[in-house]
Amino acid sequence: TGMFTYDPGFLATASCESKITFIDGDQGLLYYRGYPIEQLAEKSDYLEVCYLLLNGELPTAAQKQEFDHLVMRHNMLHDQIMSFFKGFRRDAHPMAVMVGVVGALSAFYHDSLDINDERHREISAFRLIAKLPTIAAQAYRYNKGLPFSYPKAGLTYAENFLHMMFSTPVAEYKVNPVAARAMDRIFTLHADHEQNASTSTVRLSGSSGANPFACIAAGIACLWGPAHGGANEAVLKMLNEIGDEARIPEFIARAKDKNDGFKLMGFGHRVYKNMDPRAKIMRETCYEVLNELGLHDHKLFKLAMALEKLALEDEYFISKKLYPNVDYYSGIVLAALGIPVSMFTPIFALSRTVGWISHWAEMIADPGLKIGRPRQLYTGAARRDYVSLDQR
Ligand code: CMC
Repeated sequence: TGMFTYDPGFLATASCESKITFIDGDQGLLYYRGYPIEQLAEKSDYLEVCYLLLNGELPTAAQKQEFDHLVMRHNMLHDQIMSFFKGFRRDAHPMAVMVGVVGALSAFYHDSLDINDERHREISAFRLIAKLPTIAAQAYRYNKGLPFSYPKAGLTYAENFLHMMFSTPVAEYKVNPVAARAMDRIFTLHADHEQNASTSTVRLSGSSGANPFACIAAGIACLWGPAHGGANEAVLKMLNEIGDEARIPEFIARAKDKNDGFKLMGFGHRVYKNMDPRAKIMRETCYEVLNELGLHDHKLFKLAMALEKLALEDEYFISKKLYPNVDYYSGIVLAALGIPVSMFTPIFALSRTVGWISHWAEMIADPGLKIGRPRQLYTGAARRDYVSLDQR
């Protein structure tokens, strides 16, 4: 290929150096800043994980307290942003609203958009991490015709999200600790995943010097696709479509048929050629949540387990090393918590915001930063002369 290596889909090209997240896809390992995801999911909480991803180290007690306070201080939205929501149709997909509203944040913080100023970068990170749950919750409430619900002091990040989603003026959401813990865990498991499509989009956007709000809006747009963050939504739709265990073989056969466009949603991963470690944790969380809510016989969970078992016994899935990924079970947990399917990808987006902004900040702080500029193999027409309109 002459001067360039040709690597469509970047199967074999490292685009950057990074100190944030390590993945070993063959062994199914995922570490944030060196810490195994299992330990963080079990022992840490989302805001601590945010601190870790951004700063590289776990916080001391004092640092954690200050960080939590700073993030929670920024969680309100400017009243003009509240008006911005009203420009959308009521049936707008929350992801469409998120792309728009997050991009528009750049118009609100002119005073702190100097990307060469470390203090400005830091405050943008706080604002994004703090405001995304508020934006996501309001996008949902706008769909429902509910009045906006302001963040509440004294709640954790996850509790506050559930509060903003479900509280009404007459009935405050009663936070179930198992539900809040599950929510926090979903945030933690989605917090970062090195150079996936949306993170690479954020880096590429940021490499031109664009402001962080615009870059994160680009990441949200990329995440929306069904091959990426839209998979959790697609899994639930698929399980509902299958409907009954008796129909599983039919759908497995379709997934194996190259002439059928159908894929088993929530299965397969570009990097993991083994069980996605996040999927294991998610399956456990799913079990805990359903038990707590008295949904032991949850139909979709049983169906998902039966489908997983049959697929993992199937030669096609074995030989192609296709295992459940994080999104296979997360949708069932979210559905059990009463969260509508259209909010699944927005929840992924708000969780991943810390990963995006950590990568963006790592890249901007690199003195050797170059604008991202992939090359191509041109396969179009050779040189030819213009033919005037009356001659065509
Ligand atoms: N069902 C059936 N066959 C599959 C599946 C599946 N879910 N996933 C991959 N394959 C086949 C694929 O057809 C290909 O076959 P062949 O070699 O005969 O052409 C082979 O396995 C390799 O797959 P690929 O599509 O070349 O692999 P990729 O790395 O380009 O794609 C993927 C990875 C995640 C996009 C893909 O596995 C997929 O579309 N899965 C379903 C959607 C999904 O669950 N996405 C969530 C990913 S995890 C969360 C996130 O990143 O946002």
